[in-house]
Amino acid sequence: MTYTALPASPAEFLVLHGRDSSLVIEHHADEGPLWRYWGPRLADGATPGLALRDSRPLPSFMLDHDQPLTVMPGFGVGWFGQSALLAHRGGRDFSLAFQRAEVQWQTPGRALALLLHDDTARLQARLTLSLDAHDVLRVQTTLTNLGDTALELQWLAAATLPLPAEVSAVRSFAGQHNHEFLLQVDALSRSTWRRESRRGRTSHDNWPGAVVTTPGATEHQGLVFGAHLAWSGNHQQSIEWLHDGSYQWQLGEWLAPGEVLLAPGAAISTPEVVASLSTAGLNGLAANFHAELRRRLPWAGGRMTPRPVHLNTWEGLYFDHQLPDLMALADAAAEVGVERFVLDDGWFLGRHHDRAGLGDWWADPGKYPDGLAPLARHVVARGMQFGLWFEPEMVNPDSELHRAHPDWALQLDGRPMLTARHQLVLDISRPEVSQYLFDKMDALLSALPISYIKWDHNRDLAAAGLADGRPGWHVQVGAAYALMQRLLDRHPALEIESCSGGGGRIDFGVLRHTHRVWTSDCIDAGSRVSIQRHFLQFFPPEVMGAHIGTAPAHSTGRSQAMAYRGAVALSGHLGVELDVRHLDADTRRQLCGWIALYKQWRDHIHASRTWLGEAGDHVVWQLHGQPGGDDFLFISLRTAPSGHRYQRTARLPMLEAGARYRLRVVTPDGLPESQLYCGSAPFFDALRTPEGVEMDGDWLRQGGLPLPRSLAETGFIVHLHKC
Ligand code: GLA
Repeated sequence: MTYTALPASPAEFLVLHGRDSSLVIEHHADEGPLWRYWGPRLADGATPGLALRDSRPLPSFMLDHDQPLTVMPGFGVGWFGQSALLAHRGGRDFSLAFQRAEVQWQTPGRALALLLHDDTARLQARLTLSLDAHDVLRVQTTLTNLGDTALELQWLAAATLPLPAEVSAVRSFAGQHNHEFLLQVDALSRSTWRRESRRGRTSHDNWPGAVVTTPGATEHQGLVFGAHLAWSGNHQQSIEWLHDGSYQWQLGEWLAPGEVLLAPGAAISTPEVVASLSTAGLNGLAANFHAELRRRLPWAGGRMTPRPVHLNTWEGLYFDHQLPDLMALADAAAEVGVERFVLDDGWFLGRHHDRAGLGDWWADPGKYPDGLAPLARHVVARGMQFGLWFEPEMVNPDSELHRAHPDWALQLDGRPMLTARHQLVLDISRPEVSQYLFDKMDALLSALPISYIKWDHNRDLAAAGLADGRPGWHVQVGAAYALMQRLLDRHPALEIESCSGGGGRIDFGVLRHTHRVWTSDCIDAGSRVSIQRHFLQFFPPEVMGAHIGTAPAHSTGRSQAMAYRGAVALSGHLGVELDVRHLDADTRRQLCGWIALYKQWRDHIHASRTWLGEAGDHVVWQLHGQPGGDDFLFISLRTAPSGHRYQRTARLPMLEAGARYRLRVVTPDGLPESQLYCGSAPFFDALRTPEGVEMDGDWLRQGGLPLPRSLAETGFIVHLHKC
């Protein structure tokens, strides 16, 4: 028995540097490593110099030795805050503390692994941390049970991150179906901030990540921190005040009771946490996350091809699939410039409504007497790719599959089978279930020219019990990733879209196996503005499914002009989701104009940085280009009527002070005059001439770009080219 836990060994400082950020960990051979710093870049060679305990006197009325925040805070051995690990063996071994650690540098100054040992609880944890040149910090934890009985795991943080005392607010995303990425701003205080999802998917309601800001931080400046759990299942994050005024931020998978029982010798790895900080405000942080996601996307051949214009059949036809109609729709789509025709829900056996068919993944013979081949060939013959909708993890009770295998659905003895949208969730962790799905999907992908799958997941997981009665949320996520990857391995040119009632499964985990996300079922351009702008905090525009829908919009009943629908969808991965056969000539001409404009600008937008800004009086804008680059595309949107006599300018601080830029307004063919300006002035007339207007970079930075008076729900787009 010893009466002190003070480390006897000297402090060593482990320092990782990014471009604009640094991490410092204080390491003693005989205790868990301590967090010392995650903040703006330190000078090379700079360290705290002295151990933390040597610089902070003990307060009154506490333990006789100091317990600072470690990289993996334990439980029951003097740390009273949130623990990174909660576990036990049949009620024993509940106290957890990593008393010694070994350091393994993988790349000096950039990446290391910390091997932590709790010899009393007989546990080992391996934490990997890397900080790259884009200031992206990636952390993952693996826990191994070295005991001789099973360890019951209640909580294992993927990462515990330190936040400095000056942080003041947290921006996270709430939401629901048809309203994803609803910004929630909470003040940080001594009360613990916490968000959790137990819905078995990334969820519309609680997005697994957040941005933490310091006072005065804006889109363009100030210190901000961001973190995201790359995971498509249950999750939990908390930010807790610590007694020096700083905070700890933990993110990890939320585990159901009894969900993880680690057998002796077994290990579990958490999902990865992707985090970053920026001293250049929200836009600087977005750039770091965009760069990271761009590196991770699984493009065939390692390179993204120009993002093809979609036509998605859902809101045009819903379940009403008639081959002549679909062929005519494909003809009309090709004529307006569509490049990928996606056959949405309604094509498989008995799928005439949402109450039947899921699981029976072969063409409905009544609708497709010769299978999907005639339609797929028709589409391809018109120069378009053919895409197909699946919802692999689901089954309707009214299906051949469920009648044959009622035990394949997740369920719990004694509990009701809870349907949602009339469907149940398959236990795809069972090899025979995922093999069935693989066989059915592979058969179609092998027989037909299908180059794209829209992979849907339209319900939360409830009564998610496995065949042995144990909880099934955790294994379901890994099985879904594995099934996606197996299909990609078999069909390397395939692209997959992640959809979940719109944006219920949007995260860096699923985007290791997918190439696009369906941002929201709400295609109302008015609602889309805020959904998309908040989405862009973490995700780049090329993965953001953005469609031009009908007016009135099916999800809200509101109508917007084609000009506004086009301007809002332009900066994502463009699609059309309406019956293009029935457009009047004028609307059709405008749609063609937007599609042509998208094709002209997509390579630029999809490889650029995206800056967001606001010009007040209901005007928001975004700018796409590279720092120091020659070309920028400026898109401003007036979301509501003006309340000012004169419009404020849009200041563009990312432009070069010493440069001059030539500005020209960008309009698609067929844009009605009323959609551009409301009252004219010589500047705006000149912007429309081939010469455009030359302006000084520093004036645009500090004085700003004049904006027109315009009607509500209009866009204004300008190309800035360095002279
Ligand atoms: C979900 C998707 C929609 C559509 C329908 C089909 O709601 O988000 O885009 O695919 O399913 O049932």
